[in-house]
Amino acid sequence: MCGIVGYIGFRSAREVLLNSLKKLEYRGYDSAGVAIISEELKIEKKKGYIDNLKIDFDGSVGIGHTRWATHGIPDDRNAHPFTDCSGKIAIVHNGIIENYMELKEKLIEEGHQFKSDTDSEVIAHLIEKYYQGNLKDAFFKAISHLRGSFAIVAIHADERKIMAAKKDSPLVVGIGDHEKFLASDIPAFLSYTNRVMILKDGEVCEVTEDMVNVYDFSGKKIEKKIEKINWSAEDAEKGGYEHFMLKEIYEQPRAIDDTLHSLISRNEIGMDFEKIVIVACGTSYHAGLTGKYVLENLLHIPVEVYYGSEYRYRAEVNDSYLAIFITQSGETADTLAAAKRAKEIGFPSLGITNVVGSSITNYVDHVLYTYAGPEIGVAATKTFTTQLTTLYYFAINSAMNRGLISKTKYRELMNTLREMAHAVEEVFEEEEKIIEASKIIAEKEHMFYIGRGLNYPIALEGALKMKEISYIHAEGYPAGELKHGPIALISNGMPVIALVPEDSTYEKMLSNVKEVSARNAYVIALSPNEDVEKYVDFLIRVPKTDPLFSPFVNAVALQLLSYHTAKLLGREIDKPKNLAKSVTVE
Ligand code: M6R
Repeated sequence: MCGIVGYIGFRSAREVLLNSLKKLEYRGYDSAGVAIISEELKIEKKKGYIDNLKIDFDGSVGIGHTRWATHGIPDDRNAHPFTDCSGKIAIVHNGIIENYMELKEKLIEEGHQFKSDTDSEVIAHLIEKYYQGNLKDAFFKAISHLRGSFAIVAIHADERKIMAAKKDSPLVVGIGDHEKFLASDIPAFLSYTNRVMILKDGEVCEVTEDMVNVYDFSGKKIEKKIEKINWSAEDAEKGGYEHFMLKEIYEQPRAIDDTLHSLISRNEIGMDFEKIVIVACGTSYHAGLTGKYVLENLLHIPVEVYYGSEYRYRAEVNDSYLAIFITQSGETADTLAAAKRAKEIGFPSLGITNVVGSSITNYVDHVLYTYAGPEIGVAATKTFTTQLTTLYYFAINSAMNRGLISKTKYRELMNTLREMAHAVEEVFEEEEKIIEASKIIAEKEHMFYIGRGLNYPIALEGALKMKEISYIHAEGYPAGELKHGPIALISNGMPVIALVPEDSTYEKMLSNVKEVSARNAYVIALSPNEDVEKYVDFLIRVPKTDPLFSPFVNAVALQLLSYHTAKLLGREIDKPKNLAKSVTVE
């Protein structure tokens, strides 16, 4: 998992590459590097952030990389770009070359000398092996040997062109006048152009400042459409907020509205199913788990939810179902692997993603897009609530189409879903109170989140958000499970976040609150009911909604709680340690 970029045109390649890499830093920040053709090929690469690079050369053709380490420790030696022995070829790569060991051994036997421990370096040497004055020919021959996943961008000091290829890792081309851009993600070049060509798996492109030729891996030319992107470069910037995460939390009312509008405007997806299996990872998994409760509640059919990485271990029982894959990036390797498996078996499938043309769209029969806009903070926020919006919409519509709810009930549910944008805005009014709560939490090392039913996945999501950005040890539990073991860990003053909506779980949640209070936990409750204040140490009032929709407001309040706790602790909120935005390795 890494970010890769390329530029050919009339501007300073150094500036374009650095600007573009900055926009991709969320994809990994273990090391960074650029290669620029400046009479000869020059390279600067370093361990750590892009700001560590000291580039005292320039040109108008170049490539760059920001790394999330897989093969080889994060250091200067293993930083991209990689060159061949002649020092004329440079490549950057995102993905994993599965057969690199056997390729490397053969290349070493043939006299190639390697400088890194990475899988990627073999690509530069393979191109060198086949190079006879024509980068395009050598590139095609080199990639024919590769197994695994890759987005590759390559240049040669003697040719004014860039070659690139994509298989199971993202790659897009930005089309400017007399200049072209390549990147793992559109925001990388959005301040230069909003015209893009989205490459599909199995495509190679040959790029000069005035032309983009796309081929399949066999060399056959392919006609590609140029698409116009409506996000402004500003959308991808912080827009005055201290962190992307906070900006993205505040964008949720707009994101929910946009997602709902697009869902309402699209044609019905006619799918027949009697069972659903949802597959996703991390925050998207929590959206799926919440979706399970909503779908079962409205459709009365069984819904199972799997982690992307666990789906492969599900035995092939005699079963048929609609498979739903949720992935904001559309590039999560575990989710993609599961989608490939479901496709092979032949299950009907639906993908829910935030990224147009992302890899997941190649493996599913239908796609529902969330319209959250680019999410840069590593912690998923607006993509989560737009995934919820999509799942609720899907459940309400399917229930209506099956005659399971009346037209009046349908309108009532749809109106409540529409109101979620406003309900989330009301959560923002509680921010001061949430900041007070975060001051208590910031002093602790361990905490629990508890919820029941629909709000059990929100307890999991609250805990994930807290641990990933504040590094406080937080665990989410179904509230009723505490007494079966975890309650042994409650210690004096330990924060327990209790989700207490006004639904059938209310009484039982209060009993669980009393259980942990009796063991001296510090209970912070999220509830629309002010009576709850009597039983807890601290109450965060969330807006009153139909309890079926309470996950929206609770999730947003918990996002703010994590954000402010991490801020008090001085954490790198948008780029937490050991994490990357999109996890393209299994
Ligand atoms: O792009 P995806 O939705 O497939 O990503 C899945 C997880 O990696 C992601 O949700 C991760 O858990 C978030 N960083 C959590 O905030």
